[in-house]
Amino acid sequence: MNKPIKSGILTGFLVVGVSAGTLFAVRQLSSMGHPPVVGVQRGFRGTGLFQVYNPRSLADLMVQAQIPVILPPASTDGLKAGEAFQNVRVMKNLSVGQFTRLMASITTWVAPEQGCAYCHNPDNMALDTNYTKVVARRMMQMVQNINGNWKNHVHNTGVTCYTCHGGNPVPKNIWFNNPGPAAKGIAETQTGMAHPTQPINYSSLPYDPFTPFLEQDNTIRVQGSTALPTTNRSSIKQTEWTYALMMSISQSLGVNCDYCHNTRSFRDWSQSTPARVTAWYGIRMVRDLNNNYLDKLNGVFPAYRKGVLGDSPKVYCATCHQGIYKPLFGVSMLTTFKDELGGPPATTEMLMAPYIPPPD
Ligand code: HEC
Ligand code: HEC
Ligand code: HEC
Ligand code: HEC
Repeated sequence: MNKPIKSGILTGFLVVGVSAGTLFAVRQLSSMGHPPVVGVQRGFRGTGLFQVYNPRSLADLMVQAQIPVILPPASTDGLKAGEAFQNVRVMKNLSVGQFTRLMASITTWVAPEQGCAYCHNPDNMALDTNYTKVVARRMMQMVQNINGNWKNHVHNTGVTCYTCHGGNPVPKNIWFNNPGPAAKGIAETQTGMAHPTQPINYSSLPYDPFTPFLEQDNTIRVQGSTALPTTNRSSIKQTEWTYALMMSISQSLGVNCDYCHNTRSFRDWSQSTPARVTAWYGIRMVRDLNNNYLDKLNGVFPAYRKGVLGDSPKVYCATCHQGIYKPLFGVSMLTTFKDELGGPPATTEMLMAPYIPPPD
């Protein structure tokens, strides 16, 4: 524990107290599972880059991360879906065989219990009467965007609908803008700190670290590079917001801070691990998903799917990662769905106008 404190003194920043306190909290959390835990060294000797895993929690996660049966690839020959069907706007260039396999697969990934009718009007599959179908069409474009344009985060592993949905219509980990304790009639602290009724990761850090960083693009970096605060104007309050975000990132991935940082200098990229660079792109990707996909679907989601402030459900790191350093432990489900979901999207248009079938 003396290492982060020492580095705090060395760099001489306002964050000293916070960093030591937070680290202590994180250490506590990461070792919350009962012993024995397993330690894995991830950096040079002496740098203290050391991850602590609980083998029993890992075993549970392995079970959770089982992937469903993947249907064998279909032939690319024959009529295109855009020609064969009436209202196919994104997946036009797939063969009918590929399209049918995709429909069967997304049913398993998103609505296995509800079936085709979760999105479709069984009387006419071409109609867009269910809001879920309009959302699903936009989700197809979103997945193509992730796999095609955000390779510096998802690399060739990529994602499918299953990464987030895991067989549920509503992914397990989503978030909404948080109006804070005041909305519940509880006196609010001036600094947006968590209240005992709404703790963030058991701490009293700010209760909504998501809105400023994963929807808006406020500056996350708060530390200065000189011993005395000459040019760095970041406040303790800003620092606490950064720490709240970092705590949520650590929890989302099930890792300690030193999975990405060398805690003797959180700010220094040259002492950070390559995972921190991947994470940096991840933050930008999540902002893109929230602003250009989930927020844009606001008019489509029914009120009961929205937050207390009327905002859309949104994505954060845990939506895909679900407590694991790589979603599904790095298994790629995209391999045989490259034509369908490999992206980038042929059209980025919103495609929300309802389909009107031709008269009989
Ligand atoms: C999670 C939502 C969802 C589920 C579940 C789903 N579909 Fe679809 N389906 C869509 C979307 C979205 C489109 C339009 C795709 C596009 O515009 O590229 C579509 C289009 C279709 C079409 C083309 C209709 C036309 O004439 O335009 C058929 C046929 C179809 N689906 C069949 C099925 C079958 C069969 C199942 C169940 C095995 C199924 N779908 C399950 C979302 C879904
Ligand atoms: C990056 C994570 C992510 C991926 C990948 C993803 N989704 Fe979603 N999806 C969400 C979130 C977040 C919501 C909003 C949850 C809600 O509706 O309350 C959502 C909602 C939906 C809904 C509406 C469910 C409801 O009951 O309101 C459908 C249908 C859907 N997604 C289909 C898909 C399909 C099909 C794919 C793959 C082409 C896909 N999603 C991929 C995150 C994702
Ligand atoms: C998965 C990787 C990852 C983990 C785990 C992580 N961080 Fe970070 N951290 C980052 C990235 C990336 C940035 C820079 C974000 C940006 O500039 O957009 C950052 C920035 C920071 C900063 C600001 C540095 C500066 O230049 O001012 C601090 C402080 C920080 N993290 C502390 C922590 C703490 C404390 C933890 C553990 C609770 C933690 N981080 C866990 C990736 C991570
Ligand atoms: C759309 C799904 C998705 C979201 C959202 C997401 N990630 Fe990832 N992330 C992935 C995939 C897929 C990989 C695996 C890439 C690979 O195999 O190299 C990954 C890999 C990573 C890695 C590299 C791990 C390693 O050991 O190399 C880090 C770090 C990471 N993500 C951090 C984050 C952070 C931080 C966030 C939130 C700001 C985030 N991710 C949000 C899908 C996602």
